[in-house]
Amino acid sequence: MGKRVLSGVQPTGNLHIGNYLGAIRNWVETQGEYETFFCVVDLHALTVPHDPQLLAVHTRTTAALYLACGIDPQRSTIFVQSHIPAHAELAWLLNCITPLNWLERMIQFKEKAIKQGENVGVGLLDYPVLMAADILLYDTDRVPVGEDQKQHLELTRDIARRFNDQFGETFKIPEPLIRAEGARVMSLQDGTVKMSKSDPSDMSRINLLDDPDTIAKKIKRCKTDAIREITYDPHRPEAMNLLTLYQVLGNKTREEVEKDCSQMRGWGDFKTALTEVVISHLAPIQQKYKEVMKEQGYLEEIIRSGTAKAEAVASHTLARVKQALGLWLKAGHPASWEQFLPT
Ligand code: AMP
Ligand code: TRP
Repeated sequence: MGKRVLSGVQPTGNLHIGNYLGAIRNWVETQGEYETFFCVVDLHALTVPHDPQLLAVHTRTTAALYLACGIDPQRSTIFVQSHIPAHAELAWLLNCITPLNWLERMIQFKEKAIKQGENVGVGLLDYPVLMAADILLYDTDRVPVGEDQKQHLELTRDIARRFNDQFGETFKIPEPLIRAEGARVMSLQDGTVKMSKSDPSDMSRINLLDDPDTIAKKIKRCKTDAIREITYDPHRPEAMNLLTLYQVLGNKTREEVEKDCSQMRGWGDFKTALTEVVISHLAPIQQKYKEVMKEQGYLEEIIRSGTAKAEAVASHTLARVKQALGLWLKAGHPASWEQFLPT
């Protein structure tokens, strides 16, 4: 069996260049080397208040953006998390072996819980267990994600090890795949907080489907600092962020960027250059997105066949887990406990 990759994005709104650089762009690159599974994690989107009118729409647009960004349905299995009940089912089984305090420690839970106050749901706390289920169901080797998911990946590994220790070797231990550049894209309004779908200000992010005028406006108004020279300097968060965007989206090396910047007279020049790079990088993605959305039934067919492929793998793993736990398996599965029946 070849090595497997699995990852997912929540359909909670517009995908932005943080999702692209931290995650999807790196998924595209794994396609030749690994057997790849990419899901739209709609069950995760239920862990924060959501609009039922929009969830299915965002699930479709997120899947369409996977294709637009270069996920190739011939080489990758694309599916929707809620279409495969094994995800929720395995999450329950893993819940029963996961210590509560492991979940209470999660940084993302603590951050999101503060925003929700008294009303914080159990789902938000349990979110990383569902994520562990997503990953472990596919005997995943590598999980390409942004930096913010590192702690959740460690938790997944801890859960898998604990299960293996208690019930015998059942799960493969997955590893994160986090790229150095673009793993943490920061807000355009504040270089110290990450770019996020949930930031109330749309000016803080560049969405993959923003039109050129919007992109130009956002970059023009984005926060910089008072230093005229534009250099990579870890003490200048806005400069670091904008230079990284310029470098990665422009397919340049750091040296090339430094050379470009040495000829600029200040932030005004830089912003013009960055705007051009962003618009031209996103143009083919936006074009492909339109084509995917226009072709009636195309997306449905890809999801349908992706679901069938993913389900075959998932149901296999789930049966193995149930067997390890000692559940009475449905007819058709070999039962490990038969030897213990009283005669
Ligand atoms: P989410 O939007 O939370 O569903 O995240 C989907 C993927 O995008 C995950 O792999 C995240 O780590 C990644 N991601 C989200 N925001 C950023 C960001 N600002 N910079 C880099 N990666 C990000
Ligand atoms: N928690 C991830 C995020 O917000 C999304 C996610 C859910 C995921 N399940 C996953 C990522 C499995 C990788 C693998 O970004």
